[in-house]
Amino acid sequence: MMIDRNIPVVEIEKWLREEDETKLEELWKTADGIRKQEVGDEVHLRGLLEISNNCIRSCEYCGLRKENQNLARYRMTEQEIYACAQEITRLGYGTVVMQAGEDYGIDALWLSGIVRRIKQETPLAVTLSLGERSIEELGLWKQAGADRYLLRFETSDPLLYQKIHPALPGQHIDRLSILKALRELGYEVGSGIMIGIPGQTYSSVAGDIGIFRQLELDMIGVGPFIPNPTTPLGLPVSLQQSCKNDQVPSTDLMTYKVLALARIVCPQANIPATTALGTLDPAMGRRLALSRGANVLMPNVTPQRYREQYLVYPGKPGEHETSMVDISGFLYSIGRRPGKGPGGRLRN
Ligand code: 5AD
Repeated sequence: MMIDRNIPVVEIEKWLREEDETKLEELWKTADGIRKQEVGDEVHLRGLLEISNNCIRSCEYCGLRKENQNLARYRMTEQEIYACAQEITRLGYGTVVMQAGEDYGIDALWLSGIVRRIKQETPLAVTLSLGERSIEELGLWKQAGADRYLLRFETSDPLLYQKIHPALPGQHIDRLSILKALRELGYEVGSGIMIGIPGQTYSSVAGDIGIFRQLELDMIGVGPFIPNPTTPLGLPVSLQQSCKNDQVPSTDLMTYKVLALARIVCPQANIPATTALGTLDPAMGRRLALSRGANVLMPNVTPQRYREQYLVYPGKPGEHETSMVDISGFLYSIGRRPGKGPGGRLRN
């Protein structure tokens, strides 16, 4: 069977259900071939900076949800953020990714100043991942020089989405419309999903991948759902609410399938081997991801004392990330090399 970027959603679903290893080899080879041809052997490095773990939302899977009391909340200072941006530059990475919970203590003008300063004083591309902020705020940050924005839509199943993302009183923002607005503002746009949310079906994940294609995403981040016992979706009763034989498993194998299919439908996208995958399979997770479609790594550069409090899900790597030297050695050992420059989205 031909696998190309126009693969119908029903065929995508068949691949998600495929168990035959020989068949799956074909999927991995196709994704890896497209990756090599379209974005080459460079692996772009993004320094991930978790600037605040405050959050006003109550997402049922996430450890940063506001109900969670057993978490020491922090917000990095401008000086701390700037020092980390310098460190990222020194490490030779091309991008700083500033991520946080939905924290309105991150004042729009305050962050604009930081973005402007990083853009003036370093060669870094700036990616923001700060949740559902207003179009005005997103516009302000773009004007200050931000290059990219990440906002996963998590699932395209509207009922499942509503169930696990309680809306703020009086607000019904949908993430797809924010993604569209980001595009219009001139951002490179990233999105993605969790894989294996209780209640998530094969056909809905196939639909999600179809949406990656429709949105022509510049960046796609996918990872397995990891039950967090400090959240409602981490309780045994929730885990039993899965949709019988149509439930997508939250396995590494399923994540590789989604990653490979994402590469196939968005050939030039930047696709990271994500942390959640590294958590499920520390030894091989990221290596396999890089050989099945991924072309980006996001080493965590958050200061250790804060990193320990950014507990989105349990088991998230807390240890110091390997240095650039180690990462290059690892990349060369698998026939790849560290990317040079900001590593933005190619378009041709
Ligand atoms: N398991 C896996 N991924 C999670 N995220 C949040 N909570 C979990 C969890 N329990 C992911 C979401 C979010 C990203 C920052 O982390 O997809 O967009």
